Amino acid sequence: MRISVIGCGYLGAVHAASMVELGHDVVGIDVDEPKIATLRDARAPFYEPGFEELLGRNLRTGRLQFTTDMSEAAGAQVHFVCVGTPQKRGEYAADLRYVEAATESLLQVLQPGDLVAGKSTVPVGTAARLAETVGEKVPGALLAWNPEFLREGFAVQDTLHPDRLVYGLPADGDGEVAERMLDEVYAPIVERGTPKVTTDYATAEMVKTAANSFLATKISFINAMAELCEATGADVKQLADAIGYDDRIGRKFLNAGLGFGGGCLPKDIRAFMARAGELGADQALTFLREVDNINMRRRIRMVELAREVCDGSLLGKRVAVLGAAFKPDSDDIRDSPALNVAAQLQLQGAVVRVTDPAALQNSRRQWPQLDYAETAEEAAERADAVLVLTEWKQYRELDPVAFGGVVAQKRVLDGRNALSRTAWTEAGWTYRALGRRAG
Ligand code: UGA
Repeated sequence: MRISVIGCGYLGAVHAASMVELGHDVVGIDVDEPKIATLRDARAPFYEPGFEELLGRNLRTGRLQFTTDMSEAAGAQVHFVCVGTPQKRGEYAADLRYVEAATESLLQVLQPGDLVAGKSTVPVGTAARLAETVGEKVPGALLAWNPEFLREGFAVQDTLHPDRLVYGLPADGDGEVAERMLDEVYAPIVERGTPKVTTDYATAEMVKTAANSFLATKISFINAMAELCEATGADVKQLADAIGYDDRIGRKFLNAGLGFGGGCLPKDIRAFMARAGELGADQALTFLREVDNINMRRRIRMVELAREVCDGSLLGKRVAVLGAAFKPDSDDIRDSPALNVAAQLQLQGAVVRVTDPAALQNSRRQWPQLDYAETAEEAAERADAVLVLTEWKQYRELDPVAFGGVVAQKRVLDGRNALSRTAWTEAGWTYRALGRRAG
């Protein structure tokens, strides 16, 4: 099939290259010239394990093109909309301007029989509205909503081996046509027996926001338990292990710590609340406000804990922050809890040095007021406290004995419950973590 992918961020760029891997001819389109130039050069514009190999391999086939010219989408049978839907400034709602603009420009090239397949995370009701415009302007063209569940850091694997496919389809016979087209796109995935849910637009849109809300709730649940553990002297890590053995609960996404950040979970729960409000169903989602509050409180608690271990004052204390990305295996710093804490510590008078294996360039650009170091050792030189705020493998595997020789005071704060308390305390460190007793 010939496919176009509009929007070449994390989602679109990985989707475009993956669709070639599945056997299609693909053109990826984005308004960002430098991004397109980088992709054409077989370089990844963001850090994503395995993506550069996938990109290079598929560019070499000659079946993957990148361009800023929307007219190149003409002739494709399926057009994927993969643009961002960030949070609006000063409000909870999602900003749909990129989705609107992408659809508007697609209308110029769309032919009867083409399928527009939306992948962006949108407020429920968006697909029905866009389908109406598409049907009016290009009779015979169809629209489907086909949400994406990829995680940063596992984007390639999640795109090529998704755990489910969700198709939000138009009503009547058009639905069958759209389903057949999507099945053809995903043929190898469908044939492998991947679970598939075919449904209406509203359900497909909600599947995505409901899934992210559930994940956020799970994280905030365990972080609320961490608050209680701090009050009672119980241990949240053991608690999570013990409840996680119940497979109705499960251990995944029960890692207590600094909480969730990134470009998806925080803005998706807020947009979901905003949309529920517009629909007159805001009460149904008021609990998400608490999920958000619990999450933000963890950052404040981390700063307090740092003050506590620094003998009650952060003024002039040298603090090393290991990790800036919102999670490991990513250079994404959108709503990064780690950088948020680093900035707070600095505001309160600490001398902060931040390091990260992949996100330094982005961090320097976005937070120029912070100090940065290339390595953990450099960041921790003569430090009064070391904070591990993103659980990169290199930090989890630090040797506490050797690392102890670098710092002024052996005090470590494990913001992600990712270090071995025993190993660090045996090496003479004061170990503190969220939701766990002092070690
Ligand atoms: C999330 C969802 O997991 C994907 O399924 C979804 O497709 C994606 O959003 C999206 O909407 O595009 P992602 O933002 O890449 O993916 O990150 P997650 O792996 O979900 O992690 C989110 C945050 O939660 C991170 O800051 C992570 O450190 C934190 N987290 C995760 C915890 O604090 N505890 C956990 O147990 C798990």
